[in-house]
Amino acid sequence: MKVNFTETVLRDANQSLIATRLPIEKFEGILGTMDKAGYYSVECWGGATFDSCLRFLNEDPWERLRKIKAAMPNTKLQMLLRGQNLLGYKHYPDDVVRKFVERSVANGIDIIRIFDALNDMRNIEVAVDETIKQGAMASGAISYTTSPVHTLKNFVEVGKTMKKMGCATICIKDMAGVMGPQEAYDLVSALKSEVGLPVVLHTHCTTGLAYMTVLKAVEAGVDVVDSATSTFSGGTSQPATETLAYALRQLGYEVDLDADVLKQVNDFFKPVFADFVKSGTLKAKSLSTDTNALSYKVPGGMLSNLLSQLEQQNALDRLEEVLTETPKVREDLGYPPLVTPMSQMVGVQATSNVLYGKYVNVGKEVKAYLRGEYGRAPGKVNEELKKKVLGDEEPITCRFADTLEPAFEKTKAQLAGVAKNDEDVLSYIAFPQVAERFFDARREKEEKKVKYTIEKVED
Ligand code: CO
Repeated sequence: MKVNFTETVLRDANQSLIATRLPIEKFEGILGTMDKAGYYSVECWGGATFDSCLRFLNEDPWERLRKIKAAMPNTKLQMLLRGQNLLGYKHYPDDVVRKFVERSVANGIDIIRIFDALNDMRNIEVAVDETIKQGAMASGAISYTTSPVHTLKNFVEVGKTMKKMGCATICIKDMAGVMGPQEAYDLVSALKSEVGLPVVLHTHCTTGLAYMTVLKAVEAGVDVVDSATSTFSGGTSQPATETLAYALRQLGYEVDLDADVLKQVNDFFKPVFADFVKSGTLKAKSLSTDTNALSYKVPGGMLSNLLSQLEQQNALDRLEEVLTETPKVREDLGYPPLVTPMSQMVGVQATSNVLYGKYVNVGKEVKAYLRGEYGRAPGKVNEELKKKVLGDEEPITCRFADTLEPAFEKTKAQLAGVAKNDEDVLSYIAFPQVAERFFDARREKEEKKVKYTIEKVED
C-alpha cells in the first residue's frame, strides 16, 4: 500500500512555528530541489500566508505564488481556503469567492483544501464549485473536534455531502492535534468505506499524539498525510516528513519520497530555523508538547489567550472557574469547534461569565453567531440564551452570503489607478487597510526605481 505526503513547511509549519514570517527570499533557493522530492503536493499558500505577506513581509502574495509555481513546475501546489471566509474571518459575497478561486488557480494553485469551521456545507459549496470549474482539485476538509454532537456518523455525513459537491478527496483537519490513534483509525475506516474517496490526514504534534495518530490512520488506509521537513516539525507543527517516511517504509508501505532530496531540503532549512530562533520569532514553547488540550478540552493557543485575558483583569486566580465555564459556554452555543474565531468567542464569553455574571455581558461576535451569521451551529443552541440576546430580532436561516451584495466590480472601479490588476483588487477586498499600505509602499519603491534609472541615463 502506498502512502503519499503533503509537505507543509511553506504554509502550516511556517504559520504554526514562526507566525507565518517566512519571506520568499528565505526559501526560493530550495524550491527547485523540493520539486524533485516526490511529494504528492506542497502546501504553500492560503491560510495566514496571504495576510502575512501584505502585512509583515511587504510581499505581493500573488507574486509569491507565481514564483513558487515557476520554480516547481512538477509539483502540485496546494492552498488552504476557509470557504466563504476565503482567507479571513468574515463572509464574502459569492462573486468575490469565485474571483478569488479563479485567480488562485490561474496563478498556479492545483489543489484547494476547503473547510468551514462549523462544517456548515453551505459555506463551502461556492468555493468547491468554482475550484472544479477552474479545473483544479477540490479537497473537502472536515473540521475535527470532539463533542457529543461530533460523532462518527456525523463526520461521515459531512464527507458524503462533500463527495456530492464534487470534492475529489476528503481531508480530516485536526487543527488542535486532539485526535487520538483510535479515533483516527475509526474515522479513516468509516470515511474510506462509506464515502469511497481518498482520505487525507492533517494533524498537529501539539499534544504529542500525532505520530501514533498518523500510524493508525495509515493502518486504516489513509491515502495522504501532511508532514513538515524535520527541522520545522513537532510542537505546534506537523510530524516530520523524513521520520514518517522511514517508519512507514520499515513497516512495508510504499513511499515515493527521495531520501537524499529530503535531506537536502532539510539541510537548507536548518540555518533558516536558526535565524528565527535567534530573532526570538520562534519560541521554545511552540516546540514542546502541551497536553492541556486533552485534559481541559481547550486547544493550547486558546489556553494562553485565556491566561492573558485573566492577567489583564488581575484575575489569574479564577482560571479554574473559567476552564469549568468554557465547556458550558460551548454547549450553550451548540458545540462549535474551538478554532478561530470560535475559540476566542467562547473564551472571552466564559471569562466574562465568571468575572461579571452569567451572560451579563454578551460579546458582539457571540450575538452575530447566535443570529446565524457564521452558519448553522453543529448542535442545539441554548434557546433561552438566544431569546435573551436577540430579543425580537429574527435569526438568519439562509446562507449568510445570500444577504451580501456583489462587491468585486464595484471595488475594482473604486480602485482605478491604484490596483494594477484583479489580484490587487482581491488583496484589497480581503485586507483593505493592509493592502492599501502595501500599494503605497510598492508605489514608493517603483518611483525610486524610475528616478534611479533616469539618473543613470544622465550619467
Ligand atoms: Co493546521
